[in-house]
Amino acid sequence: MKILFVSSEVYPLVKTGGLGDVAGALPAALRAMGVDARILMPAYPDAMGRATLTGRTLGLGDPLGVGETRLLEGTMPDTGCPLWLLDCPPMYERSGDPYMVYPGNDWPDNFKRFALLSKAAAMIGAAGDLMDWRPDVIHAHDWQTGLVPAYLKAWSVRRPPVLFTIHNLHYMGIFGQEILEIVGLPLDQFSINGLEYHGLVSMLKAGIQYSQAVSTVSPSYAREIQGPQEGRGLDGLLRQRGDSIHGILNGIDVDAWNPLTDPYLAAPIDPTNPEPGKAANKAALKRQMGLDGNGSTPLFGIVSRFVEQKGIDLVLGAIGRLLGEGAQLAVLGSGDRNLEYELNRAASHHPGRIGVHIGYDEHLSHLLQAGSDFLLVPSRFEPCGLTQLYALRYGTAPVVRRTGGLADSVRSVDEGPDGTGVVFDHAFIDAVEWAIGRAVSLYRDPDAMARVRRTAMAQDFSWKRSAEEYFGLYTDLMARD
Ligand code: ADP
Ligand code: GLC
Repeated sequence: MKILFVSSEVYPLVKTGGLGDVAGALPAALRAMGVDARILMPAYPDAMGRATLTGRTLGLGDPLGVGETRLLEGTMPDTGCPLWLLDCPPMYERSGDPYMVYPGNDWPDNFKRFALLSKAAAMIGAAGDLMDWRPDVIHAHDWQTGLVPAYLKAWSVRRPPVLFTIHNLHYMGIFGQEILEIVGLPLDQFSINGLEYHGLVSMLKAGIQYSQAVSTVSPSYAREIQGPQEGRGLDGLLRQRGDSIHGILNGIDVDAWNPLTDPYLAAPIDPTNPEPGKAANKAALKRQMGLDGNGSTPLFGIVSRFVEQKGIDLVLGAIGRLLGEGAQLAVLGSGDRNLEYELNRAASHHPGRIGVHIGYDEHLSHLLQAGSDFLLVPSRFEPCGLTQLYALRYGTAPVVRRTGGLADSVRSVDEGPDGTGVVFDHAFIDAVEWAIGRAVSLYRDPDAMARVRRTAMAQDFSWKRSAEEYFGLYTDLMARD
């Protein structure tokens, strides 16, 4: 079975969030099952620097009229998974964030950059002698690759089926109608039954509309997006596609996130006796974040992009309660300038109680997961969420809102003896306050806390099960082809 993964980010080459983690780990998990999975992503400078390139290249000509385009053959540095970097310097030779010129501002030519990525994937997939490898299924991810099936539909060629995975329906890849001509798609696709969305083009809608199957990253989110609130105007289309929309919960890379061997930790955490390791990491984290006091203060952590989705504003609203409970807070993240400012301000008003690190820091993210007692994830919506899965593996109890993948992965301590975290229902400040209070009362009961830790660390979120589900989906798609 040959599967082409197309993604705009792949860890450890380039990552801004969970999509990168998934696009790095899932192909490797499939390869371990004997699937010939390969990755296609843009040749950003960071990706060129980190991939192992063989030196072999394959010219694609100038598919969009934006410059000579080539595939550079290579492998992933950690897993050895085969990889093609899509090289077109005018489009991708830009360092830093793969999507934005500077925080909050997308590159104005993103439609060309990701149309080119989609077109290259479609060219690899289309019948023809481009190369001696043709995928049985193309697995495309998020709006940046939504045009893959649109190109394949427009070309009268033998085409492999496309599985389109929605990691986040909020990002729709919206552009003006005029882009269709520029990216070389037929104007008749601009219709309500095509990629038109309120008079504009949505690349995400193209992916949903023209793919042979659609999936998303948790069963709950698969249901939620078929309703009006999370469906964001696409719920009708998603309901129409109902039985071909699959919810498959993400796994995690259990080697990169191994509490016994993680090089970023101050000490290993033993799942059968977590307390000593947790204490050592908590002390190291507190030192690094400038937090005072001894180990008996409950410590809440956050690792997040600062966007509306993540509910960081709700935590800001609940800080008084958190401090009133005698707890501390360690935050790592970046994004919305206002939230960055407010968090820094809270830290400067409460030195030693609140520690904030603005930025992206892989190393600190691991230590924060290991050293916190609780991880706060008060998301307004969450397609899957990976940070709560890392938290569970590191013996840190997630405090999450009951939505999407959070609901599917964290069991409430109030709903049975095998709880793994605190779960609350509403995206309101007082609900977050309640959850913080509940977590602190759990912390003050050492036996209950120890049980939650052990139960959390015993959960299995490795990719194996999810990779098998994808394997089943690919098999169905190939049989239908
Ligand atoms: P999303 O993809 O919506 O951001 P996920 O929970 O699926 O949410 O994935 C977020 C990923 O990004 C996790 O691997 C998390 O550790 C990482 N991450 C988020 N913010 C930071 C940061 N500031 N520094 C390091 N890693 C981060
Ligand atoms: C998106 C979602 C997140 C999910 C990730 C990987 O970024 O916001 O919930 O875990 O994709 O699928």
